Amino acid sequence: MAAQSGQDFDWDGLKAAAEEAVTHAYAPYSHFSVGAAALVDDGRVVTGCNVENAAYGVALCAECGLVSQLHITGGGRLTHFVCVNGDREVIMPCGRCRQLLFENGGRDLLLWTVSGIKTMDEVLPDAFGPDDLA
Ligand code: THU
Repeated sequence: MAAQSGQDFDWDGLKAAAEEAVTHAYAPYSHFSVGAAALVDDGRVVTGCNVENAAYGVALCAECGLVSQLHITGGGRLTHFVCVNGDREVIMPCGRCRQLLFENGGRDLLLWTVSGIKTMDEVLPDAFGPDDLA
């Protein structure tokens, strides 16, 4: 996968972290487990899994846990991201989670998507963000 991104980055290693995270998912209602992993600009790797609820609407996406872990372990900026389903297949972050990722990684965050490595700007073009509130 590194060759596909044109960069010397261990995408498969990051995906392995997401595959570990998905084993902790709590998805008894949708039966759709998600694991997410991201590299932080200081070299940390943060992860998350989805956590559903009997009140369906308050389910937490995997990215929510990942962003919380980012902040609780020291903050920083996300530089690389991937999420997978329970079959270890790369999936796309939902629209709400693209917004979460944009806030914490900006337009240059790289994502392994179903159609290859893309920037945040490509998967959430013309995003509303912190600059709009400046
Ligand atoms: N889900 C995530 O965790 N992240 C996404 O980006 C897409 C959807 C979860 C939410 C819910 O628990 C399950 O996948 C089915 O929608």
